[in-house]
Amino acid sequence: MEKSLRFDSLLIHGGLDAGPAGSTSVPIVQSSSFAYQTAEELEDVFRGRAVGSVYTRIGNPTTEALEKRLALLEGGGTAIATASGMAAITTAVLTILRAGDEILSSSSLFGGTFSLFRDTLSNYGITSRFVDPLDPDGFRDAVNDRTRLLFVETIGNPKLDVPDVPLLARIAHNAGIPIMVDSTVTTPYLANGVQLGADILTYSTSKYTNGTGTTIGGVIIDRGVFDWNTPRFPHFEAFHKKYRNFAFTARARKLVHKDVGACAAPFNSYLLTEGIQTLALRMDRHCSSALTLARFLEDHPKVAWVSYPGLEDSPHHAVATRLYGGRYGGLLTFGTGDKASAFKVINNLRLAKNLANIGDAKTLVIHPASTICGDYNADEKALMGVTEDLIRVSVGIEDCRDIVEDFKQALDAA
Ligand SMILES: Cc1ncc(COP(=O)(O)O)c(C=O)c1O
Repeated sequence: MEKSLRFDSLLIHGGLDAGPAGSTSVPIVQSSSFAYQTAEELEDVFRGRAVGSVYTRIGNPTTEALEKRLALLEGGGTAIATASGMAAITTAVLTILRAGDEILSSSSLFGGTFSLFRDTLSNYGITSRFVDPLDPDGFRDAVNDRTRLLFVETIGNPKLDVPDVPLLARIAHNAGIPIMVDSTVTTPYLANGVQLGADILTYSTSKYTNGTGTTIGGVIIDRGVFDWNTPRFPHFEAFHKKYRNFAFTARARKLVHKDVGACAAPFNSYLLTEGIQTLALRMDRHCSSALTLARFLEDHPKVAWVSYPGLEDSPHHAVATRLYGGRYGGLLTFGTGDKASAFKVINNLRLAKNLANIGDAKTLVIHPASTICGDYNADEKALMGVTEDLIRVSVGIEDCRDIVEDFKQALDAA
C-alpha cells in the first residue's frame, strides 16, 4: 500500500505496519536487548541470516518504524535514525571519509557542523575546504584527488542563502563524488532527496520532524543511487560487492553507526513518529507566517534589513521558488543596526522564546553572534553571515496576528 501513498499520507501511515497488528501508533519497545531461545537463532540474527533485533544500539523496532517512514518520505532508500542531527552528520561523514580525505563543504553552515568539519575532524586527518555555496564554479575548481564528499545545506542556517542543490549534485557526480545534503531547514516536505538529486541526506529531526521541541534526533538517508565502486572509495569495495549501491548503508550499519554508538533512543523515535504526522500542515503554516512576519518587519522603521528567501527582492527568491515549490521555510533573520538594539528587541518579546533551537511550534528567537556563533572570530562570522545586529527568528505556528503583534510591540518599545 505504501508505494501508492502520497507524501502527506506517508507522514501518518509510513512504517506503521512495523507494529503489532491493530496498533495505530508505533509501539515503544523500551528494551536494550532482545533474547532468543537458542544460540543458533541468535547467531542467525547476528550474521544477518534471519530478521530480528539484537541490541538497541544496533537496531530497535520503534526506531526501525521511524526509519522506514523517513526513507519513504525521501522517495525511497534506507534511513538510519541517530541520537541527534550532529550524530547523523558525524556518522555519515565517518562512513565516507578516512584520514587523508577531504570534504568540500558549503561555507554557509550551521555552527556545529562548521566546528565538526574545521576543528574536530581535522584532528583525525579529515580536512575540509569551504566554498561559497552560491559559486558552483568554486566547487568545480576545488575538487582534487583527495576530495571524497560535497556537503551543503538546502537553506544555510543562519545565513538563509539558497544554493542550487541539483546543480551542485551534477558537479559532484561529474567529479565522481557523492553529495550529502543537510535538509534540516527545508524538511522533505519542501523538497525530498529525489528532487534535490542528493545521494545522502542528513537532517536534525530535533526541529520540524518533532515539531514540539521535546526531542533531540537526527537521520541519515541513503538513496542508494551513488555508485561506490570507484577508485576514490577502495574502502567500499567489499560492501559494494555484496550490497551494490547500498554499500554506504552497509558500511554505516556494520561499522561506524555500530561503533560510534550514537543511536536513537526508542522513546525519542516514538515521539518523532507521533510528531511528524502533522509535518505538512505545520510547514505550510510556518512558511506562510514567516512570509507575513518578514513583510511586516520590512516596513518597520526600526528594522535595518530583513532576510527571507520568500521576499521577492531576496537574491535567493528565484532559486528557492524553483526548488521548493513557492514555500520558503520558517526561518528568517533581521537586523536592527547594532547589538544593543537587537538585545532590546529580544528582551521586549513576550510570546517568542529566546532559545537555541528552530522548528518548534513556538516562535523562537536568538542572537547568534553572542550565542551559537559566539566562539567564532569576525571573519568566520562574516562567512556564516552573522552580523552583530542579527536576530534569527524561527516562526512558529501560533496565530500569525499574535506573532506580528509581539514583534511590533517589541520593536516599538526598543
Ligand atoms: C542545519 C542544521 N543541521 C544540523 C543541526 C544539528 O542538529 P542537532 O541539534 O539535532 O544535533 C542543526 C541544529 O540546529 C541545524 O540547524
